[in-house]
Amino acid sequence: MSQGITIAIDGPAGAGKSVVSKKVAQALNYTLVDTGAIYRSVALLAKEAGIDWQDDAGLQAVVAGLDIHFNFVGEDNQVRLGDRDVSAAIRMPDISQGASLVSAQASVRAGLLDVQRNLAGKGGAVLEGRDIGTVVFPQAEVKIFLIASPEERAKRRHQELVGKGQEISFEEVLADQNKRDAQDENRALAPLKAAEDALQLDSTDLSITQVVTEIVGQAHKVLGF
Ligand code: DC
Repeated sequence: MSQGITIAIDGPAGAGKSVVSKKVAQALNYTLVDTGAIYRSVALLAKEAGIDWQDDAGLQAVVAGLDIHFNFVGEDNQVRLGDRDVSAAIRMPDISQGASLVSAQASVRAGLLDVQRNLAGKGGAVLEGRDIGTVVFPQAEVKIFLIASPEERAKRRHQELVGKGQEISFEEVLADQNKRDAQDENRALAPLKAAEDALQLDSTDLSITQVVTEIVGQAHKVLGF
């Protein structure tokens, strides 16, 4: 019987990675590793311990003690630190900013390599992030680089935030997104870029179902279905 393959789904914020990764993992009954949630968890723990988000040595200790697990509860991919559910806490705006800062630290990126690989386990796994196909799993059998136009990504994010009751304009969301994109693409360590052998999918004019069908089809091709 096949052990399953590794599927890397990378791309900028707002391209639809989370929902697509979740549906692909469910369709194949694979483990799902949301690597952004791991960086967010490091930022949360550092904040609680009074460690600065740019304190490399302090962050190293946080990463060394990290006890993180994912598990599906109904439709939600819950994030747990020990037995504490931090799924909501890691999505707060200040933790997003913290995650962006800690993810630029060399010791954090190096320390999280094994964490990410161990979470993927030995069976089939879907990993969503920025550098899965280039750094974490360069040998992944299926590599997807999911993009969408900046306006479409900001529109989706704006709708999501307004849906959660936040008062924010589309222009503010777009400006914030442009700033984060530039930061992610230009940072020295593991900048956001597609692996040479990644399949680039543009979700601007595709439905979630179309994107998921394409990725599951790629996986089936590799698995010989
Ligand atoms: O996808 P996200 O918004 O949850 O990611 C949170 C932060 O972590 C974001 O600033 C990018 C960073 N990140 C990263 O550097 N490498 C990854 N593999 C995943 C996320």
